[in-house]
Amino acid sequence: MLQFTYSRGVLHAEGVSLAAIAAEVGTPFYCYATAAFESQYRALDSAFAGTEHLICYAMKANSNQAVLATMAKLGAGMDVVSVGELKRALAAGVPASKVIFAGVGKTRDEMAFAISHDILGFNVESEAELEALSSVAVELGKTARIALRVNPDVDAKTHAKISTGKSENKFGIPFDDAPRLMDRARALPGLAAVGIHMHIGSQITDAKLSPFRDAFTLMRELALDLRARGHELEHLDLGGGLGVSYKLGNQPPPDPAAYAAVAKEVLGDLGLKLVMEPGRLLVGNAGVLVTRVTFIKEGEGRRFTIVDAAMNDLIRPTLYEAHHEIWPVSELSRDAPMVVQDLVGPVCETGDYIALERSLPPFVAGDLVAVMTAGAYGAVMASTYNTRPLVPEVLVRGAEWAVVRPRMDVEAIIALDRLPGWLG
Ligand SMILES: Cc1ncc(COP(=O)(O)O)c(C=O)c1O
Repeated sequence: MLQFTYSRGVLHAEGVSLAAIAAEVGTPFYCYATAAFESQYRALDSAFAGTEHLICYAMKANSNQAVLATMAKLGAGMDVVSVGELKRALAAGVPASKVIFAGVGKTRDEMAFAISHDILGFNVESEAELEALSSVAVELGKTARIALRVNPDVDAKTHAKISTGKSENKFGIPFDDAPRLMDRARALPGLAAVGIHMHIGSQITDAKLSPFRDAFTLMRELALDLRARGHELEHLDLGGGLGVSYKLGNQPPPDPAAYAAVAKEVLGDLGLKLVMEPGRLLVGNAGVLVTRVTFIKEGEGRRFTIVDAAMNDLIRPTLYEAHHEIWPVSELSRDAPMVVQDLVGPVCETGDYIALERSLPPFVAGDLVAVMTAGAYGAVMASTYNTRPLVPEVLVRGAEWAVVRPRMDVEAIIALDRLPGWLG
């Protein structure tokens, strides 16, 4: 996390002190570093230099308008999974011609909105979806460009809840069925079958990139087969999935250059545009969640450091047993002997924790704590469980910073509810 460093004893995001932000916006809050978004995007983009390509940022990872606008300025397209995300992408200035619409359950209304905005294409996941898309396009007098999402039955060797490319997962079309469905797509009115798509999972860290190599090899086989059947393919969508480093001391995941080398080696000679949909890779290490210690509680043989962030703010530890490094915002406590402790939130669930049995500085009430690598699948997965308002998001750029989503207030949450007449 190159953009998060200690300066004069305080953890900074680029040139801004996290303690100073906390003093103004309160805790908890998410903080993102623009330079980290930029360096990740550029590393991937330059790794594919010389090959026609488009990076469609998987905005499900972090869809704040300021993040999207930063990506759009760099030239990114977007991978969206709902009409809500599509509207967010358009609002952030992303041209529809760079938007790919993915997901297993698009509704006809979502299809109609996307078709009428002339998006780059749909990644289609079933025969039923092909038929629905065809009929919506015909109703609108338009053509929908599609890529078929193929399930290669490849083991991504990642957490079961984020593995998507095995035959037992709900995603994509069985590999052997793909030629028949591409023929079907070609025969249906209102569709242009122009690509194939695979996404085998997320947080893939295999040192040799073997899951990607296996999937790309199958993709190549299928592309050649489809060409032989007369399909005029334009692009291959490689999906996302390249992992980031969450744990200090672990072997870092392969970098974008190694990933691009495999993609080019397997697919480079096909003359097809390579589309990719990275999410976590672009934003994971660009963000932290800053929280404050409320109380220290000594349990029986267990020390609990209770902080003001909880599973509703960052659900990754609870949902995926995810590891996030924990850094003190004040460097001083870094030098003190470590203490084994649980970092837990105030939510009424045993699963509400950020770190368990971790050797950390001897925090005391009032200390600020940074939960690292929280830029992806953090704020976007937050909820208001326990009527806890969504926390602010802050974007830093050099020595500047701005609140890019203010803290929600409790009254706004309560105001969403309505009393039926019999209780009024
Ligand atoms: C279809 C698709 N593409 C891209 C992504 C982004 O994955 P990652 O953030 O691991 O790059 C996902 C994540 O769920 C996905 O489902």
